[in-house]
Amino acid sequence: MPIGTSIKTAVEWLQQGEPVALPTETVYGLAAPLGSVEAIQKIYTIKRRPANNPLIVHVLDINQLEKIAVVNASARVLCEKFWPGPLTLVLPKKDCVPDIVTAQQPSVAVRAPTQPLFREILKILKQPLVAPSANRFMQLSPTKAQHVWEGLGEEVKYILDGGSCTFGVESTIISLLSEEKPQLLRPGPISVENLSSALNRAVSFPKNREKESEAKLCPGLFKKHYSPQTTLVLFERLESVVLKSFDGRKIARIFFKKPNMGCEKNAFWLSEQGNLEEAAFRLFDLLQELDGQHWDELWIEKVPNQGIGQAINDRITRAAYQESSVGSGSASN
Ligand code: TXA
Ligand code: MG
Repeated sequence: MPIGTSIKTAVEWLQQGEPVALPTETVYGLAAPLGSVEAIQKIYTIKRRPANNPLIVHVLDINQLEKIAVVNASARVLCEKFWPGPLTLVLPKKDCVPDIVTAQQPSVAVRAPTQPLFREILKILKQPLVAPSANRFMQLSPTKAQHVWEGLGEEVKYILDGGSCTFGVESTIISLLSEEKPQLLRPGPISVENLSSALNRAVSFPKNREKESEAKLCPGLFKKHYSPQTTLVLFERLESVVLKSFDGRKIARIFFKKPNMGCEKNAFWLSEQGNLEEAAFRLFDLLQELDGQHWDELWIEKVPNQGIGQAINDRITRAAYQESSVGSGSASN
């Protein structure tokens, strides 16, 4: 199993043009140097990712950002306040960024991670690292080295183990292509309220991304995404009653907090006390774990829609999305 803790090995593979899985504070990324088009091409192949879905570039700081993107005043404010951290900025790209990274778009998505191992590798390589989440297209994002191994296997030459990711959900993405109209493209650990107050203006969140024009804003945000293999059904609220099975199907229920009932083998929760940060940290890990057991369906309830709760609700809504359920309401009661 190619899991280890050697920064040296990770760097050697990267220098040989092989993508390497690296921990970040959000989720594990599948990384390649910005200058290695060959390695970046392999990322798309390993992930089975469509070529029209651009990648996030990871830098050390605003100085490195300035080499690859046109930095406006709003970007400066947000870097000052939230970098390094789980915030990705979409800005006009400079010519040195290869088209394969941005899927031919004139913009580039960039963030500066806090994860110390990741930062160490950025310093050694002296160039940015391109890194999407280290999962196959449409599947759950990995928050542990083991998840990367289970999802991608031998196709990745090395997985640098940095333990569990601190946040457990992907970074917030904001487009600053228009400074007058900043747009949230993906909710994440940095809330829209925090962004609005730092910028001193409203940040909009285009909801109906399925419309073609909006899908183009952030090509990777599909209605269905981040999915386990087992059918996931989303509820506004799950009843804390004993439920062994439903119509003969074996159901695992995922509550936000520990339900007020006796011990049930099919009841799980994201956070015993109902803490949103803990719920985000546990979400993908618990879904991965239950997906590996023999449940017919997983039922999950929404969490309070505030702070990082918005990111959790976004991910579970996409994970539970069924093309056939549109309009019937059956999957989102
Ligand atoms: O937390 C994270 O952001 C993690 C870690 C590894 O850093 N990365 C991550 O990457 O979530 P990925 O590829 O799974 O998601 C990147 C998203 C995609 O939805 C993609 O469409 C969007 O960012 N994106 C990338 N470049 C863009 C651009 N120029 N304009 C709009 N959206 C962009
Ligand atoms: Mg992803």
